[in-house]
Amino acid sequence: MDNIRYDRQANELYIVDQSLLPNEEKEIRLQSADEMYDAIKLLKVRGAPAIGICAAYCICVLAREIDIDDGKSFLNELKRLAGYLNSSRPTAVNLSWALKRMTETAESNIFSGKDKVCELLCDEARAIHDEDIEMCRSISKYGLSLVKDGDGILTHCNAGPLATSRYGTALGPILLGSERGMKFRVFADETRPLLQGARLTSYELYKAGVDVTLICDNMANTVMKNGWIDAVFVGCDRIAANGDFANKIGTCAVAILAKYYGIPVYTLGPTSTIDLNCKTGADIVIEERDPDEIKTKFYEKPMAPEGVKCFNPAFDVTDHSLVAGIVTQKGICRPPYTESLAKLFE
Ligand code: MRU
Repeated sequence: MDNIRYDRQANELYIVDQSLLPNEEKEIRLQSADEMYDAIKLLKVRGAPAIGICAAYCICVLAREIDIDDGKSFLNELKRLAGYLNSSRPTAVNLSWALKRMTETAESNIFSGKDKVCELLCDEARAIHDEDIEMCRSISKYGLSLVKDGDGILTHCNAGPLATSRYGTALGPILLGSERGMKFRVFADETRPLLQGARLTSYELYKAGVDVTLICDNMANTVMKNGWIDAVFVGCDRIAANGDFANKIGTCAVAILAKYYGIPVYTLGPTSTIDLNCKTGADIVIEERDPDEIKTKFYEKPMAPEGVKCFNPAFDVTDHSLVAGIVTQKGICRPPYTESLAKLFE
């Protein structure tokens, strides 16, 4: 089942509802802008590249529903809808990146008429999707060159096919290597509070026949100390110009631990996740989420006093000094990242 599926002829968009996994593999249809906003906000579709791909198809669906013939008014309405979707989650740059591509496509063709613009929007969304498939394939190949048969790899959150398309980013080398008969021992952090590691990473790797062991986040030290980890592979939601990167909360702690044990940390992501407008990680906006995700979600009964204060940032920033390499579809960037990342866009 594809995680995101757009039926162009019927103008129908479906996603696998990731919030139900691993217990239920169910597709849901996204029809209205509110349903789309909620799907992104509530992590029914999640993972930086997948959010971008989904948002692009959302624009296809919504554009064809706009009942306005005047070009300028049509464009204003499309931009309003794109702005609404963009406000659902702030940290992953792929969301605004994909929406910008879509609105620019509409804007530069607005005099061709609404029907033509809608066709071009569908082409653009498909291109964003196809490019991501290719980028994941290439990232997987470069990532695979960093590990050898039998290695232990620790990962945090989920950067697999569900979060992208096909192979994924951080899980890409593992899945590609497994296809080629290589064996890895993967340790997946469960990833509190929303359990992407437990619900999604262990589910994807286990289904693919990979040797995966699920651990609680606070066990990363133990598996590293035991000598079981040769490399850390994680995804990213936004990479700043200096190589600092935002990823799921807890990633920075894993990177600091890895530094202590001399284990290389790699972040893997497409160039669409690099934001040169952010000079450093300090410029990245970090999403804060509902405290109930910590206190009550996934528990039968609340596991904290009802009124207790909670702090629930969804991401943290890992300093570039902790990163051995940034793996993109164009190759592996090494320090100094200000230079190697800028070169990708020359
Ligand atoms: O809150 P989420 O589940 O969307 O966070 C996802 C991550 O942090 C991923 O590691 C990142 O988006 C990369 S996905 C290829």
